[in-house]
Amino acid sequence: MIKECFSEEKKQEISNAIKPISLDIIEKEYKELQKIGTNAKDISERCRIGNNIVDFFSFRQRLETRGKYDASFFDFVANIEEFKKKKFIQNMLIYYETVKNKNKTKNEYVVLKEVYNICISAINIIRPLVYMEIYAKYKPTCILDFCAGWGGAVVAASVLNVKKYIGIEINKNLEGPYKKLIEFVREKNDNIDIEMYFKDALTVNYETLDYDLVFTSPPYYFIQKYQENTDYNNSKREMDEKFYIPIFTKVYNGLKPGGHFIINVCKEVFDNVLVKLFGEPNEIYPYKKSKRQNDYKEIVYVWKKNIN
Ligand SMILES: C[S@@+](CC[C@H](N)C(=O)[O-])C[C@H]1O[C@@H](n2cnc3c(N)ncnc32)[C@H](O)[C@@H]1O
Repeated sequence: MIKECFSEEKKQEISNAIKPISLDIIEKEYKELQKIGTNAKDISERCRIGNNIVDFFSFRQRLETRGKYDASFFDFVANIEEFKKKKFIQNMLIYYETVKNKNKTKNEYVVLKEVYNICISAINIIRPLVYMEIYAKYKPTCILDFCAGWGGAVVAASVLNVKKYIGIEINKNLEGPYKKLIEFVREKNDNIDIEMYFKDALTVNYETLDYDLVFTSPPYYFIQKYQENTDYNNSKREMDEKFYIPIFTKVYNGLKPGGHFIINVCKEVFDNVLVKLFGEPNEIYPYKKSKRQNDYKEIVYVWKKNIN
């Protein structure tokens, strides 16, 4: 596969063709989220309010994430003739041309993105509404999100007027998008204290931070390759030893007694690492996810730290 070499301008153009989101839309969605407030748990799991805010700021960077065949969406577009040689991709494109997009309502990039999602990898976000539901349930004063990702947590923390949010993200390409996202939310709520660190979460001294809720979604081994992540030689064992065990331990140790430690991760990391470190969780539940997307349920594991 040839690595793509689109210019930044072209990448932005592709990103906008897939998600043409205006400022008006995100202003409106922010207000709608404010109306929902602490009642996100009563909202349908199909509801997508707030997702456009995340996409407006970080969708362009999300397209750099690599899935199966080590291909990002941009690689997929640049190498489409190669990918068409794979029968199931070719069939899917024919299906779009002759059935699903017969009337040409979707532009070519939207079609390619949907085919990429089905055949290669869907890079999902955690919706702001999911973060809002969890924040409303545990009522944190200060949130620590040590694999911050795409920005939904910042939106939710701001809407719910949480006192402080600390995000850590290793991918420095997200620094610009977060700067703009934070400006956007600060215009609406300047009480919230947002601290973002663009560095490896393993290098942070958690003893100096004050937080009573941890909620994050670290990578699921190597299912998706985020930009600038350590590859741990593609060894699960190495990743357990060098990433999951030390990071979970450090973050848990720094958590305030009485606080909650909540991780959204695949069952394999739960079995291999989390349950061995902390024992059975106090709660395990799926967070809402549209069944239309797929049948796989995203699970959160919750431990309450004892007050000694
Ligand atoms: C699954 S994504 C999180 C997605 C997020 N839950 C969302 O929906 O917006 C995992 C994130 O963790 C980040 N990450 C991976 N290793 C990290 C590390 N050592 N320190 C900080 N962030 C890290 C990745 O760059 C990626 O953005």
